[in-house]
Amino acid sequence: MRTHRIVFVSLAWMGTWTHVALGQTPAPAPRAAPAQTKSGVTTPAPRVYANLAQLMRGILFENSALAMSEAANLLMMPGRKCSNGVAVPIRNADWPKFVQGLRDAGVTAYKAAQTKNTDNILMAADAITEACANCHNKYREKPTLADRCK
Ligand code: HEC
Repeated sequence: MRTHRIVFVSLAWMGTWTHVALGQTPAPAPRAAPAQTKSGVTTPAPRVYANLAQLMRGILFENSALAMSEAANLLMMPGRKCSNGVAVPIRNADWPKFVQGLRDAGVTAYKAAQTKNTDNILMAADAITEACANCHNKYREKPTLADRCK
């Protein structure tokens, strides 16, 4: 009985923590059609789990070079909403350009890290900051939350 209570309490605690970390529970997301390869093997379709702000806090804020380039793929996935419920504007002409900027900055940072050269790393850090800011200036820095992603 005692063990059960401990398990229950820690699960409840984890639930609270996850809730805080994620901000809110995302609504169930639409599933894309599974992709079928030539050989007939069905690969699981990508699926959206987080809203855009959650994705940003979870991956981009951590500043890991190659994770940023990978995250660029997630930023182009259909089906994701921004925290205000507006669809992530992947069909706007400038969105893929900003995403490409992030992808490039991630690769630049990865290469710079490999050189272990401080100047290269500082330059890469500038490239990243710029890639983030280019998109934020257009889609995030708005007077009200409701205006984001438009
Ligand atoms: C292609 C566009 C784009 C790029 C590139 C981008 N962001 Fe964002 N970011 C957004 C948008 C739009 C939001 C607002 C999301 C929302 O409200 O759901 C956002 C929100 C955020 C947030 C959450 C802020 C909040 O209001 O909760 C963080 C943190 C963040 N971005 C960090 C970064 C960092 C760091 C980078 C670069 C490494 C980056 N982002 C690159 C578009 C972008």
